[in-house]
Amino acid sequence: MRKMNLHALTNVALIAMAMFLASCGNTPQSPGVEYMPDMYRTPALEPYGGNSNYADSMEARTPAEGSIPRGYLPYGIPNSNEGYEMAGTLLKNPYLSNEEILAEGKAIYTKYCLHCHGKEGAGDGLTVTAGGHPPPPAYNSAALKALPEGKMFHTITYGKNLMGSHSSQLNVEERWKVIRYVQTLQNPEGEEAPVEAVEGSEEAPAEAAAMSDETAMNN
Ligand code: HEC
Repeated sequence: MRKMNLHALTNVALIAMAMFLASCGNTPQSPGVEYMPDMYRTPALEPYGGNSNYADSMEARTPAEGSIPRGYLPYGIPNSNEGYEMAGTLLKNPYLSNEEILAEGKAIYTKYCLHCHGKEGAGDGLTVTAGGHPPPPAYNSAALKALPEGKMFHTITYGKNLMGSHSSQLNVEERWKVIRYVQTLQNPEGEEAPVEAVEGSEEAPAEAAAMSDETAMNN
């Protein structure tokens, strides 16, 4: 009888020890035994698995109206002739022209623009020479030599006639960087980029700078 009791006691002690060890786990990061695991882990539903909480049972919901994907805040200037003019006077490139920015701009240009605009921006890319597409005007032509950077940004964002929008390929920073590079092709002799006079009163430039900060951040 005594022997039986000893056996039972040893068993209880062993089970207790096993439970103690299991709850501590081997690694310090281990959460150990989870008491009521539903409290730790919310049940995951399959995107197309059906959800009885909604009348149409669809689990994958369309985003709420007005939702904006991360990193893609809307460009506040409308896609119109007025918007194009407005961009020309209001938007300023947040990047200074230096070796690093020009190198990044050139890499972007080579990937996304060169095949139409050509190496030197003369409008003689492969789509023109081999594909027979109408050539874009040269960046240093009379028409584009004085084109303000804000208008370039607008065109890259929305596209213009035969040039499509590049807003899904290039984020705002990349658009401004490639513009710095395009400006070197616009003025290959390295003269100061011509600045279009801002129409209207003396206050216009200050207002323009403030707006450009805002719009530059929000695109
Ligand atoms: C599919 C060919 C094509 C590609 C790719 C392309 N462009 Fe263009 N681009 C054009 C054409 C065509 C025009 C002339 C549009 C017009 O004024 O009718 C143009 C015009 C422009 C202008 C003048 C805009 C203005 O407001 O008059 C700039 C600046 C420009 N492109 C820059 C770029 C940059 C930077 C890229 C690369 C990110 C690029 N383009 C990619 C075809 C292209």
